[in-house]
Amino acid sequence: MCGIFGCVLCEGNAAPLIRSSLKRLEYRGYDSVGIATIFNGKILVRKDQGKIDDVNALIDLDGMPGSLGIGHTRWATHGAPLKINSHPHGDCTGEIMVVHNGIIENFSELKNELENIDHTFVSKTDTEVIPHLIEQTLKDNPKLSFIEAIQQTLKRLEGSYALAIISSKEPDKIFCARNESPLVLGINGKGVYCASDIPAFLPITNKAVMLNNGELAILSKKGYELKRIQDLSSVQRDPITIEWTSEMAVKHGYPHFMIKEIHEQPETLRNTLRMQDHYLDLLSTFLDRANEVFLVACGTSYHACLAASYMFSKLAFLPTYPVYGSEFVEQHGKSVSIDSTILAVSQSGETADTISSVCCAQQRAATILSLTNVIGSTLTRVSRVYIGTQAGPEIGVAATKTFTSQLSVLAQLALKLSKKRGKISQDEIDCLEEKLLQIPETVDTIVKTQEEKIKAIANKYKDAKVFFFLGRGISTATAYEGRLKLMEIAYIPAIAFPAGESKHGPISLIENGFPVVFICPKDETHKTVIGNIMEMKARGAHIISVIEQGDEEIKSLSEDYIEVPKGIPSVLSPIPFIVPLQLLAYYTALAKGYNPDMPRNLAKSVTVK
Ligand code: F6R
Repeated sequence: MCGIFGCVLCEGNAAPLIRSSLKRLEYRGYDSVGIATIFNGKILVRKDQGKIDDVNALIDLDGMPGSLGIGHTRWATHGAPLKINSHPHGDCTGEIMVVHNGIIENFSELKNELENIDHTFVSKTDTEVIPHLIEQTLKDNPKLSFIEAIQQTLKRLEGSYALAIISSKEPDKIFCARNESPLVLGINGKGVYCASDIPAFLPITNKAVMLNNGELAILSKKGYELKRIQDLSSVQRDPITIEWTSEMAVKHGYPHFMIKEIHEQPETLRNTLRMQDHYLDLLSTFLDRANEVFLVACGTSYHACLAASYMFSKLAFLPTYPVYGSEFVEQHGKSVSIDSTILAVSQSGETADTISSVCCAQQRAATILSLTNVIGSTLTRVSRVYIGTQAGPEIGVAATKTFTSQLSVLAQLALKLSKKRGKISQDEIDCLEEKLLQIPETVDTIVKTQEEKIKAIANKYKDAKVFFFLGRGISTATAYEGRLKLMEIAYIPAIAFPAGESKHGPISLIENGFPVVFICPKDETHKTVIGNIMEMKARGAHIISVIEQGDEEIKSLSEDYIEVPKGIPSVLSPIPFIVPLQLLAYYTALAKGYNPDMPRNLAKSVTVK
């Protein structure tokens, strides 16, 4: 997730407006910032790593002349957060500049092709292929107009993009395009604007035009023109009036970041599934060679590791040991060695216990691999290989979208490793890969169809003194995570354990009306889970189940149930099954009058760069 902004002004310099508008998009990324303007027919570029204010103080972004320009605030995905990787990116001649939010999946192939015909690349980004491809398209077909060259280029891109492009060949225009990354236009009498999100221009105009996937826009002093990428045919669309305040706009009209981020999951999962194969390949090669693998993390990230231990075991037949970051040194500090591999998982990449586990293992020559949402964090710096989870900045203190992104990368990794090790059939792998691609849609359906029902369940149980969260197999991890969410934001004590453990002690707590949440995918644990539900029910528990649609058997045993779409393979089930529990925690916190974005005594780890 990055932020882009561009504007064509009728009067005055664009750069100060671009800089202040990017500030309002900094919630989308803050690794680096850059601006390109056109002045006297020439392109000027200033960019550097760091936050907008710091970069502006150093290189005076505001001082750039020109009434037309584009800017970018970056959340690193391909390439470290360095100046060289900062947007805008240009072609060989410096006559075309591009800012981009999204992921170009086929950039390696395109880059190879262009390098073979003498294009020189300076960054590690996927974006840089775009200006070079436009340049080459024009070279190959000198009769094409600039917009036709853009069109041909876009047709070769696979993946997601919101783009703003300028060129000294067309010095009065900004060209924008959208495919699966947000892009919106703003207009008023003083100019035309394009941005990743409405808050960028809301203080200057509330008249907006939404761009749809597959559309191009041309901005000039005259206004805006919309076209279809497919055939450059015209699209007519009038502006709408945005009624949001600036504060509402940052949260997209949602009352809290947490609920915004829960709703964002179909999009963040889609982005995560665009993961570069190359990194998965590299990481799985290290895992394949490992003698022992520790999955090290804290809190929610630990729950992702717990789920991953089932994925690696079932798909790749690789035993792994999930360990709490706070316990690793005590538990394994003396025995970890050159033969050990650590896969550390951390949203922030800064959690002290995770980092000290990694440092301890590193001193003993173990191989360090990691998975984090923050490229450039301490964890990425101490890892041999790392993968970014592509979830974009998470502002809610309670981890939601980053958890499902972690799970989806770990599932991809387990599948990759499985392929490498030849442990399950190709048919099975193909089927799981296909199901994984459907998960964003599944999550979308859950949010759309179950939210109201979950709200009612939250209201019904908001005064409960304690909850149980139970699952078997991989759903144990889902149960732990559901319980953590409820405790941390709704302050209701909750207990989670593998359902089979009930009879070894915890069942003695059950009395009439005790709420027990059961996570029940239709997998090999289904029958035994029914047995566990009956045990609880017989002692007066109220069963709240998360089931697959049409699971009549468990439905009939439940006081309340939440349904997720059918046909989710067991190893992938934590991704959709956690979503109702995130919503349950959120609405319980609201019902109790708490602010879910500000759980007491907790703060999010932040990256210090
Ligand atoms: C819970 C939560 C925490 C974090 C934990 C680890 O909602 O956010 O439990 O998961 O503090 O943080 P990271 O993943 O940044 O290492």
